[in-house]
Amino acid sequence: MIASSSDVVDRIKLAPDAGLVKSLGANHTLESAIADVVDNSVDAGASRVSIRLLTRNDRLAQVEVLDNGRGMDASAANAAMTIGHQRTYAEEDLGHFGMGLKAASFGHSDVLTVWSARYGATPVGRRIRRADFSKDFTCEVLSSDVAAEHAADRQVVLGSPEGTSIVWTEVRNAYRGRNQAEARSWLSKRNEALRSHLGVTFHRLIAAKRLQIDVLIDELGDALAGLGIPILPIDPFGYKTSGHPEYPKDLVAKVGETRVKLTCHIWPAKSDVTGFRIGAKSGDQFQGFYIYRNDRLLQIGGWSDTATPSTARQLARVVLEDNGAIGPFVTMNPEKSGLKFEPVFHDALNKAEAIDGTTFLTFLQDAESIYTDANRRKRERKPVIRPDKGIAPAVRKRIGTELSFIDGDPVNVKWKRMLASEFLDVDYPAKTLWLNSRYRGLFAPDGGSLNDAPVLKALIYLLTHHVFEGQHLGSRDKDEIALWKSVLGTAAAAEDHMRGGQGTKQ
Ligand SMILES: Nc1ncnc2c1ncn2[C@@H]1O[C@H](COP(=O)(O)OP(=O)(O)O)[C@@H](O)[C@H]1O
Ligand SMILES: [Mg+2]
Repeated sequence: MIASSSDVVDRIKLAPDAGLVKSLGANHTLESAIADVVDNSVDAGASRVSIRLLTRNDRLAQVEVLDNGRGMDASAANAAMTIGHQRTYAEEDLGHFGMGLKAASFGHSDVLTVWSARYGATPVGRRIRRADFSKDFTCEVLSSDVAAEHAADRQVVLGSPEGTSIVWTEVRNAYRGRNQAEARSWLSKRNEALRSHLGVTFHRLIAAKRLQIDVLIDELGDALAGLGIPILPIDPFGYKTSGHPEYPKDLVAKVGETRVKLTCHIWPAKSDVTGFRIGAKSGDQFQGFYIYRNDRLLQIGGWSDTATPSTARQLARVVLEDNGAIGPFVTMNPEKSGLKFEPVFHDALNKAEAIDGTTFLTFLQDAESIYTDANRRKRERKPVIRPDKGIAPAVRKRIGTELSFIDGDPVNVKWKRMLASEFLDVDYPAKTLWLNSRYRGLFAPDGGSLNDAPVLKALIYLLTHHVFEGQHLGSRDKDEIALWKSVLGTAAAAEDHMRGGQGTKQ
């Protein structure tokens, strides 16, 4: 039975209990939490953000985010510390719920301190201890003299006293493990994750030079004036040539009168660039939607329940701009880590079409076929001997994506001194391709290194690898080797002659 309005006997007001603070930010990773703090800097008009991961005996003890934005006066700072305080947002703002700063901070630390200076206003400091705050929302007001010192510090680091410093102390989710070496490796992994998360999240702003973010890792107390290392932009659509000649393609989803544009991209197969891998081993987990709001990425891949992720779909990525048109159809979670599409939008997506009739499903199929064709070729090719010492790692890796390997010892490519008339020798038992070091200077002018002359060695490998793949050298193999030796011996001498005897002089 449903209660009707005549069943209402009283109305009482239930204010939220400060205990809710304990649940804040539980879903934040360190990277997503810091990204949310950077959002506030961007909203405050900052062009520079400096992130400092400060350690005590190599363990993360304090996180600081300094910006040169417009800063806050006392009343803005009070509002900033208030949970769910929603200021009036401008069209291009990234803020939304009035939760970001608190959720991000308490997800990772027990004490949040904010120092800020706005032009023409007295510098301010506020501090919240999570334990007090979760009893009664207590916030400490800090001395403006100390706030002025922090403004002076910002002047040193960012060149402007105006701006804001967010400081997390009593960091909770830091490495607590056994020894310093492991603590250091934990921190360097966090640093990598942070650089790739922020690099992709803010890639448009960074690439347009509207924002510079740097990260500094240092022991507490040593760090003040140190300069961090700038984060490089990672463009998740930064391929050189499209994987499919007809893409990228715009599909239009219609919901009532509203039109939402989906720009569908297909990456080339076997890409091994940062834009595809985004800090991971492979780009597989980054298929799906890339939703931008004001040039900040709100979602880094994922199909938001509109398609099933699969290995074969890994080349498919779709750009959606979260502007007025799409606004009503997506809901964002407070961690900005994923968006949900409203049911009407799911339907619209399934009916979305490009002018040439391509649908969302055809797009997925096109992406799958590019992937499977590339891998079928690999399966249809005969397995080869694994290249090892002497071949540059990038070349070895690429050979491995194109071909599969037979079991057994790998083949090495090495230099040794031979007669001037020779260039190549094939040592079947030792699985080694020897090159005449007399000619090394022609191919490795700097004196050479283990993995030098990658083009030459790749060619030699491609030419000869099959003789190592049989049980022994057959008479055909031997004849081929004799042919290579004869022709290449003459070619090396000719090359040397044309370059004025450079190679052999060394
Ligand atoms: N770095 C900053 N510079 C200036 N103002 C800030 C900064 N960080 C936070 N604020 C202020 O604090 C408010 C609350 O921030 P937050 O909790 O992240 O919520 P939201 O960003 O959704 O408004 C912001 O709206 C802004 O007015
Ligand atoms: Mg915010």
